[in-house]
Amino acid sequence: MTNEQNIQQSSIQQNTEQTGPKTILVIGGTGKTGSRVAERLTAQGLPVRVGSRNGEPPFVWEDPDTWEAALDGVGSVYVTYYPDLGFPGAAEAVGAFSELAVKKGARRLVLLAGRGEDGAVNSENKLKESGADWTVVRASWFNQNFSESFFLDPVLAGDLTLPTADAVEPFVDVEDVADVVTAALTDDRHIGRTYELSGPRSLSFRDVAAELSQITGREITYTPVTLDDYRAFLRENGMPVEFADLFALILDGRNADVVNGVEEVLGRKPRDFSAFAKDAAATGVWNV
Ligand SMILES: NC(=O)c1ccc[n+]([C@@H]2O[C@H](COP(=O)([O-])OP(=O)(O)OC[C@H]3O[C@@H](n4cnc5c(N)ncnc54)[C@H](OP(=O)(O)O)[C@@H]3O)[C@@H](O)[C@H]2O)c1
Repeated sequence: MTNEQNIQQSSIQQNTEQTGPKTILVIGGTGKTGSRVAERLTAQGLPVRVGSRNGEPPFVWEDPDTWEAALDGVGSVYVTYYPDLGFPGAAEAVGAFSELAVKKGARRLVLLAGRGEDGAVNSENKLKESGADWTVVRASWFNQNFSESFFLDPVLAGDLTLPTADAVEPFVDVEDVADVVTAALTDDRHIGRTYELSGPRSLSFRDVAAELSQITGREITYTPVTLDDYRAFLRENGMPVEFADLFALILDGRNADVVNGVEEVLGRKPRDFSAFAKDAAATGVWNV
């Protein structure tokens, strides 16, 4: 090694020793993808801060005053918006947050988006305009919506009443989403890339009900309703009626096809719905 190389090497060592890797802020770090991303990063010995309303410090999308403290000492951010990037105000919030993040020194932003959502594309563009090194991960609907989220109660009640007719969706597993996001956050080869993720098979909600019936040994039915009836149900239960609009993404078939983002990033096949259902059933989450 030459003297010059020796000096460079020692300067790299000092920098690493003095500063260490910068904190990765995982927004939605208690949610379906965020909790798994935080787990994977922590297992790699990387410093992680969970961004959520109950985080320390708290991070609240509707309260920009909370963003600055959450970004202190942060070098990268996994950006998940709640409830959905297609909702009013989302693109503005994501844009303002990304701008602040870059100003505070976070260069790397990885955004979780839905597939085929016009509203989400506005947020993607706002995030890119911040000048950050970005990656966009567009995901199909998650398998875990049936075990950890809004479809869990219907499964427990034994009936999925939804405005999906016979439309199909290539559900993706959040374990695969978390693997892709973790790769994006830790490997610069993913900068400037947009990945589309799905599972290996498209299923209708009737197919899902049949698979869940078989795995749980209980009859779980699928009952189609109109979008208007579903909006009325959301309103009666105090939930945002905009959730009904998300079903348009399934109904018009724009996202029906299987795509290969999981294999493109991870070099392996995505997890199938039946493998998810078997593992979820074994945890007892669907026991009544
Ligand atoms: N679910 C799907 O099938 C799917 C598919 C593709 C894309 N996505 C996208 O993924 C994103 C997250 O949706 P998800 O259903 O998967 O939810 P999730 O990440 O499982 O849960 C929401 C997370 O965000 C936090 N949170 C909730 N409200 C917040 C607020 N006002 N400010 C800050 N943090 C908040 C929650 O923690 P606290 O409660 O502690 O605040 C929790 O950690 C959405 O943008 C959605 O469009 C979802």
